[in-house]
Amino acid sequence: MQTELIKIDPDNVDLGKIRQAGDIIKSGALVAFPTETVYGLGANGLDADAVARIFVAKGRPSDNPLILHISKLEQLYPLVSEITETAKLLMEKFFPGPLTLVFKKSKIVPLITTGGMDTVAIRMPSNPIARALIDSAGVPIAAPSANLSGKPSPTTAEHVFQDMDGRIDMIIDGGPSDVGLESTVVDTTTNPITLLRPGKVTLDDLRSVVGAVSLHTVVRKGSSEEMVEARSPGMKYRHYAPNAKVILIEGQYNAVNLKIVELIEKYRGVGCKVGVITTDESSEFDVDVTKCVGRDASAFGRNIFRVLRELDDEGVDIILSEGLEDIGLGLAVMNRLRKAASEIIVV
Ligand code: TXA
Ligand code: MG
Repeated sequence: MQTELIKIDPDNVDLGKIRQAGDIIKSGALVAFPTETVYGLGANGLDADAVARIFVAKGRPSDNPLILHISKLEQLYPLVSEITETAKLLMEKFFPGPLTLVFKKSKIVPLITTGGMDTVAIRMPSNPIARALIDSAGVPIAAPSANLSGKPSPTTAEHVFQDMDGRIDMIIDGGPSDVGLESTVVDTTTNPITLLRPGKVTLDDLRSVVGAVSLHTVVRKGSSEEMVEARSPGMKYRHYAPNAKVILIEGQYNAVNLKIVELIEKYRGVGCKVGVITTDESSEFDVDVTKCVGRDASAFGRNIFRVLRELDDEGVDIILSEGLEDIGLGLAVMNRLRKAASEIIVV
């Protein structure tokens, strides 16, 4: 299959190009598109055959459910069988944006879309290209992150091209993602609501609107490995894993840096090519590659998936990464890093 790569300016959306992409979705084929979180791999979410193509293109396990993307609230009602008061509050406050809500599903949503579950995840993105595409397709668009299953989520069209060239019909290049981390996922069918995946809409943001929020075990610090029986099936698979072995070093800043120096010596001593992910631009490690992601959680989050891919491209064997505190957006960054890590060292 020939994959067409087209560029669209998010500040001046070319509706002719969007119509072309919307027609591909309507025909049951696949289009990757930008959102404010990461790039998505879209298909008509109500067409079981089209959704099946997503699982094939990504190599994704079939019990891992997809998010349906809508551009208007009217599109939500036919997809769900119940909307709680809490869900209404969250939608008022955070739609459109980087928040996904899980509802009880209606009959029109195919089971393949929801990984066999009786719930459905729904998000209204704010990215103008994503919204125009959904409008043009005229259907809810099922879209996981547009990476091969197990790879870091794509935050540029080039990342999508690396993973999906020859597997899908079209990639829309709308520039780098703003947030760089996938949306916050919240289950509104439980009381209180449950945070299933942390993201740009933080725990404090949620609490300020609805009061109580329970944390799924994967969201609690250091417990990513415990997840077996998952409410969000996506969480049980090893994610975001680059080819290199990632070692995450958490703790107080100076102690972390000392540990990194010690580990560099150890791994270079046995002939490994080593890369370091640091928050400090002026850090100078005696190492093959150093990538700075920035000190604040927004910058770290925006850059981390790109940096993991770049370190793989450089062919490093070991990636040593600094961590962040589990507060605010740091919770989301650390959730992704812990999933990518083969080893976590706390100093
Ligand atoms: O930011 C995002 O959410 C991006 C963009 C493209 O919108 N999409 C994304 O999709 O990250 P994906 O498929 O990579 O992650 C969806 C997550 C998975 O962890 C999945 O298990 C969970 O949402 N999920 C989907 N439907 C669910 C449901 N019915 N119940 C619980 N979790 C669900
Ligand atoms: Mg994903």
